[in-house]
Amino acid sequence: MVRFENVGMRYGLGPEILRDISFTLDQGSFHLLTGPSGAGKTSLLKLIYLAERPCRGAISMFGREIATTPRDELPGLRRRIGVVFQEFRLLDHLTVFENVSLPRRVMGEMESQYRAEVEELLSWVGLGNRLNAKPATLSGGEKQRVAIARAVVAKPELLLADEPTGNVDPEIGGRIMRLFTELNKLGTCVMIATHDMRIMERVPASRIYRLAEGRLTVAKAHDFMAQAKRA
Ligand SMILES: Nc1ncnc2c1ncn2[C@@H]1O[C@H](COP(=O)(O)OP(=O)(O)OP(=O)(O)O)[C@@H](O)[C@H]1O
Ligand SMILES: [Mg+2]
Repeated sequence: MVRFENVGMRYGLGPEILRDISFTLDQGSFHLLTGPSGAGKTSLLKLIYLAERPCRGAISMFGREIATTPRDELPGLRRRIGVVFQEFRLLDHLTVFENVSLPRRVMGEMESQYRAEVEELLSWVGLGNRLNAKPATLSGGEKQRVAIARAVVAKPELLLADEPTGNVDPEIGGRIMRLFTELNKLGTCVMIATHDMRIMERVPASRIYRLAEGRLTVAKAHDFMAQAKRA
């Protein structure tokens, strides 16, 4: 589904913040991405979402070599990816319901086809009574939950989530992880960037990646847990 080979990335003329990154994400797998603040987790997710370009190496997504894919075909690839951005990126002029519905509208569905599902999803994340609110009137944690509902509503082939439990309490955090786990069981490949050790105990992670000093290393989930317990 996703393949990186010796990828490097820099912002502008700055230093390479990601170096020699190689990994694959297979269909139906579940991955965590850890590493200290500033290590490049968000930057790596941006590369996968095709929002940034690498300065070297090769990226292929859904079987397409990105370097040789025409720019006007990238939005079509992006639509197959659900993303929870670290800073949410909700549309301020739309209501909660409309923000979450957007991916389904873009797919050409009528409101009658998605209304019940969007309402159910928003109830699940504890926002069943805020359907008509505008993002500006929501707390950080509420905005985060809207962003999560929007990322999963179209059952994407790939889900990328950047610190998705950063602003919510443990109860809601648990519900969000259940949502991701259910989606993963339906075949979605999931990659979550997080510092939250509690997440790691809750998800069926096939693999935990760690970014440090621009490089990516892999820990098998159970080895990592054993290490975390010993520490
Ligand atoms: N738009 C940008 N322009 C220039 N440098 C950037 C930009 N975004 C991030 N960086 C730099 O790239 C490095 C990696 O940042 P990134 O946001 O990917 O880290 P992160 O692992 O997501 O951190 P955090 O855990 O705090 O979210 C940092 O040194 C940061 O200063
Ligand atoms: Mg980040």
